[in-house]
Amino acid sequence: MPTMTCYRDPASPIEERVEDLLRQMTIEEKIGQTQQLSTKEDVQAEIGALASEGMLGSLVLAGTALAGNNSNNNIRHDLLNNIQRLAVEHSRLGIPLIFGRDVIHGHRTVFPIPLAQAASFDPQVVENACRWAAYEASADGVHWTFAPMVDISRDSRWGRTAESYGEDPYLSGVMGVAAVGGFQGENPAADGCILACAKHFVGYGAAEGGRDYNTAEISDNTLRNIYLPPFKDCCDAGVATIMSGFCDINGEAVSGSHYLLTQILRHEWGWDGFVVSDWASVGQLAEHGMAEDAADAARIGFNAGVDMDMSADVYRKHLRKLIESGRVSEDRLNEAVRRILSAKFRKGLFEHPYIDIEKSHAAMRSPVALADAERAAARGFVLLKNKDNALPLSKESRVGIGGPMLDDRRTLLGCWTLDGDPQETTNFREAWDEIAPEMVVARFNPALVDQSLLQICNTRADTIVLFLGEDQAMTGEDNAVVSLDLAPGQVELARAAKQWGKKVVAIVQCGRALVLTNLEPWCDAILVCWHAGSQTAPAVVKTLLGEYRPSGRLPVTFPRHTGQLPLHYNYKPTGRHYGKGGVRDTDFRSSLERYNDCPGQPLYPFGFGLGYGQIQMENVRIESSPKTVAALEAGEPVVLAVDLINTGDRADETVPQVYVRDCVSETTRPVRELKAFRRIAVDAGQRRTERFELNARAFGYYGRNGSWRVDPGRFLLSVAAHSGTPFQLEITLEQDGVSVS
Ligand code: GLC
Repeated sequence: MPTMTCYRDPASPIEERVEDLLRQMTIEEKIGQTQQLSTKEDVQAEIGALASEGMLGSLVLAGTALAGNNSNNNIRHDLLNNIQRLAVEHSRLGIPLIFGRDVIHGHRTVFPIPLAQAASFDPQVVENACRWAAYEASADGVHWTFAPMVDISRDSRWGRTAESYGEDPYLSGVMGVAAVGGFQGENPAADGCILACAKHFVGYGAAEGGRDYNTAEISDNTLRNIYLPPFKDCCDAGVATIMSGFCDINGEAVSGSHYLLTQILRHEWGWDGFVVSDWASVGQLAEHGMAEDAADAARIGFNAGVDMDMSADVYRKHLRKLIESGRVSEDRLNEAVRRILSAKFRKGLFEHPYIDIEKSHAAMRSPVALADAERAAARGFVLLKNKDNALPLSKESRVGIGGPMLDDRRTLLGCWTLDGDPQETTNFREAWDEIAPEMVVARFNPALVDQSLLQICNTRADTIVLFLGEDQAMTGEDNAVVSLDLAPGQVELARAAKQWGKKVVAIVQCGRALVLTNLEPWCDAILVCWHAGSQTAPAVVKTLLGEYRPSGRLPVTFPRHTGQLPLHYNYKPTGRHYGKGGVRDTDFRSSLERYNDCPGQPLYPFGFGLGYGQIQMENVRIESSPKTVAALEAGEPVVLAVDLINTGDRADETVPQVYVRDCVSETTRPVRELKAFRRIAVDAGQRRTERFELNARAFGYYGRNGSWRVDPGRFLLSVAAHSGTPFQLEITLEQDGVSVS
């Protein structure tokens, strides 16, 4: 038995364990730690040999490079335990492998896609979903998830909008931090916790045309004020790892950018986790034309700051020679290995390297997890229209149900559900039959539009509920679209039902913003349910019946036409914010009115959503405000207040949102930016006051040469129902006693 050196002693501080181990490692063993390989069938024999020689650091548990688009490829516990045993008991130093997997929004219990979780405007929903995901995935042998994805998406043609928290940096940061807390817990080594990975650093969502993997041009000013902040929030929250993206921004492939991966991430932010590349993105530096060959790609990626190579296998094959030739320093190798070993010690892998298979089976899809998944689904639903209180339906309604999504199971789970099983998932038809069979007098053929039309015109139903939207296969990685319109036949169903005098309720499943312009006129009610996981269907039916009361809000702008993209609420005023009619407005709406063939405003703005009840926001006011920038930066907050009055007969929830506009600044600033929000319950007849304290961060920005600053001068503010609400308030901050005229 080897003597107990410090690195094997869990009582020793992690830093000491790392140094003790590092000094015993050969160059080959160090290089091994920087290599992650996949569990694709064709490499399994090789993996075993590498593990037993201590020449491998990690496995990504995925059958292909497009793990998110695959059907189930369940984890093989025996295979993993055997490989781990080779690393721990046969290799010289017994360094465990770390197993990573895309546990994006649930494991066997599938929670709503991240975009739907963001729509809840409730970080507790995100934290709880990630807590369950970690609980089930860790029981299944997963040590590390490649989530949260905090890419900003301003163009819903991009399929990965579904995996994001939407278009806003503040909302994405709040939800990303909640996800990190949910996955990692207080101590990632504890039972039920896994390491998290903020991805895809950075700017992936700005791909031109929404075409996945595509080039993006992002000014440093926009990079620092829009795309980087959610990653900084996750780093400040202690995220263990970051994943470098595929794309090239501003002339550099991200996975080869020293500026991004070292200058910003390390020197400016001081973050000390480790960077894993996206799938083969280091090797792809050659495809980008930034590297001569695989060895050159390894040199560039490693020196840029990518500590671990996912699946390109270029570090294992080339780092030795690169170090011998001095093109990569041993100091840089030691730096990367320190970060990786620190994460393994932080996860407790040396103490608990193996999967407890019995525990694994017991952990999945508990009634409590499923109940939480149903509640999470309902909290993300967004009610876009409810004409004459069409919803909730009364029990006396005679309902006809139809639409192409009526019987679909797989779509309910959304993209990136490697371990969700459609066969375990209740569809809408079954949910109605379980919850309120007596209400359903007709079930229309989901497959045949013409037969459905015939059924609709002959039915005695007074209400037609149509399950519409997009298949989950249209979302996720490498699933861009040129049009956000609904698939053919869907609008026709709604129009036919309306023309036969029915109440029409549209349930829209989606993983992005869709164009509902042609659907809207034919519907009395529209509920966006996204792809909301295992419990989507019961959550929808219970919402239609009023058991859940929708209060979700849009995390992405819903345009009138795909041609408006990119369209986002935090646009710049431009030098001409008066519309075609020359009408100048102080709210910058007319900055969008530039088309001859379509209004420039969105169909539904960011932050929009209705409820069943009536909660008024009144008496928006400034309760206190510092006089100067210095006072604000010293910690004196701007305090806003709003009175919420529930005039309905049921308790309900609402989401007051605080938007800020910096009127005069060193660089151009958005017409408004979300700086606070809160989902609040208000009892029937209750009147309550909510307060929001805004600190310096709410008023500052990165100006010229990337410097953080808070300007003196005028700021407009609103406490709003959504981003289209006009400003109600104004403050002026003086520059240290000098009044700013
Ligand atoms: C994929 C995705 C990334 C994922 C990784 C592992 O290509 O871009 O989000 O975590 O590879 O599956």
